[in-house]
Amino acid sequence: MKRSQVNQIIRGGLEFCRQMNFHLPPFAVWTPQQWQTKGHEYDEIRDNMLGWDVTDYTSDNFAEVGLLLFTIRNGNDSLEKYEKPYCEKLLIIGEGQITPYHFHYSKMEDIINRGGGRLMMQVYNSTDDYQLADSPVQVCADGHTYTVEAGTILSLGPGESITIPPYLYHQFWAEEETVLCIEVSKVNDDTVDNHFLEEVGRFPELTEDEPAQYLLCSEYPPAP
Ligand SMILES: [Fe+2]
Repeated sequence: MKRSQVNQIIRGGLEFCRQMNFHLPPFAVWTPQQWQTKGHEYDEIRDNMLGWDVTDYTSDNFAEVGLLLFTIRNGNDSLEKYEKPYCEKLLIIGEGQITPYHFHYSKMEDIINRGGGRLMMQVYNSTDDYQLADSPVQVCADGHTYTVEAGTILSLGPGESITIPPYLYHQFWAEEETVLCIEVSKVNDDTVDNHFLEEVGRFPELTEDEPAQYLLCSEYPPAP
């Protein structure tokens, strides 16, 4: 991806949050210059990769296969100084913009449609060798537990959510309008906990065609 595209996507995300009256913490709009001055009192942001996360899953087509995320809070299982066992992320999902099939080895997550269009969520169990299983899927959504056929597409309107346990394959996209989703989960570690059905890259390499307007969660400079 190009840096100019990442800048534009984050600017668009901030504008969407304004429209939806959803407020992000102050570090969402710190510039690279401001980051240079942030000392160890902000280590939690750096250590736990809070903040912006833009991915096209190496598709080179962000509008069709990609996701804009902002990690609002997260713990860290590999650093003892963080006791926090939970994570909250903002997911901004475009119309028809797919996050491809994946499951998590240990993370359990609730994905909640907080407003906008409809969140379309397609689910399969995983076989022992990590393929799509044809077995029925148990769904737990807003206190309602029920069973659906493998590959069912659930349509979640604003206010609705679904619980995704470990090893449940899910792919999702938005319909009708962009969706503002919140993910509430156990501690998230994108470096080891994701299994994609088809191999994709989670963190794209960037071509620096203009200066970064905002830094991604993997780009913070060390504390001065
Ligand atoms: Fe997921």
